[in-house]
Amino acid sequence: MIITVTLNAAIDKSLSVPSFRLGRRHRSVEQTTMAGGKGVNVARTLKTLGQPVIATGFAGGPTGTRIVEQLTEESILNDFVRIREESRTNTAVYDPTNGEQTEINERGPAISPKEIELFRDKLLYLARGADIVVFAGSLPRGLDPDLYAGLIRDLRRMDVATIVDTDGEPLRHAVRAEPDVISPNVLEAEELVGHEFNDEEDRVIAVREMVQLGAREAIMTVPDGCLACVQEAGERQIARVWIAPREAVAAVGSGDAFLAGFVAARYTGRSLADCLRFGVACGAESTQRLGAGLIDPREVERTVAETAIEWLSVPAEV
Ligand SMILES: Nc1ncnc2c1ncn2[C@@H]1O[C@H](COP(=O)(O)OP(=O)(O)OP(=O)(O)O)[C@@H](O)[C@H]1O
Ligand SMILES: [Mg+2]
Repeated sequence: MIITVTLNAAIDKSLSVPSFRLGRRHRSVEQTTMAGGKGVNVARTLKTLGQPVIATGFAGGPTGTRIVEQLTEESILNDFVRIREESRTNTAVYDPTNGEQTEINERGPAISPKEIELFRDKLLYLARGADIVVFAGSLPRGLDPDLYAGLIRDLRRMDVATIVDTDGEPLRHAVRAEPDVISPNVLEAEELVGHEFNDEEDRVIAVREMVQLGAREAIMTVPDGCLACVQEAGERQIARVWIAPREAVAAVGSGDAFLAGFVAARYTGRSLADCLRFGVACGAESTQRLGAGLIDPREVERTVAETAIEWLSVPAEV
């Protein structure tokens, strides 16, 4: 079983609005409303890929009820801690005429210490039947930035693998708790290692640095694939996966689709190279659909053939 954690679950509303302009009234030509938040998106893709997954996190108020109902409608197993304050609704506007997207995210609920304790108990209970726990997304406001880190340590004692996709302070703390995998995008990785990357060499050094910070493996997604510092048969290796960028219908959530693809392939025991290529194919495929976490598994299989992998030499410790 795979568990995804979404502490900031939301209802995601995506609108397609041609020639979107500030200060004008528009009509959307297409719209979707789905349960969202990064962990929820990962759960959706895992479900589509046929993997056993339970989504957990916090859900509150009528919006929280709607999140749970939508997941249940999609047959995504879920077990959320109900909280007193209302979960958020996030709105994304895509302009198909220029490919631009505008996002407006609500502030989200505050979580009480009692609710955090309930969540911790639930997660550790669910984890007794799990192989992998994926922590994805930001923390609700006011939560201690080392919340993920504490849970990662608890889960390691239970021999459950942990995968983290977050940013800022929560990522900085999480990486020190030695999770199995972190998967930042370029901006998140730059923030974590504390400097910008100017070329491919910088990016290679960066994934190496992220492992030195504590992650067992670090995968950085880039617009044309990913770079990963991984372990195969006890050996540290660096892989570069390539894919030709496609014209995106909606790129939001491609990182979540990448992660779900990677986790699904790993859960089924595929080789590291296959896991990375499959993740990149899922990320690319998801850009062709409005709505996060939506992929067509048959298209993914075709897309895998468009990816290429190269193994690079590992730079010395810095
Ligand atoms: N236009 C595109 N064409 C092909 N592949 C893409 C495209 N955009 C993204 N991808 C793939 O999706 C994966 C994730 O991309 P990216 O690093 O942009 O994620 P992200 O910034 O974490 O996205 P989000 O947080 O919105 O989910 C990468 O492996 C990348 O190759
Ligand atoms: Mg991301």
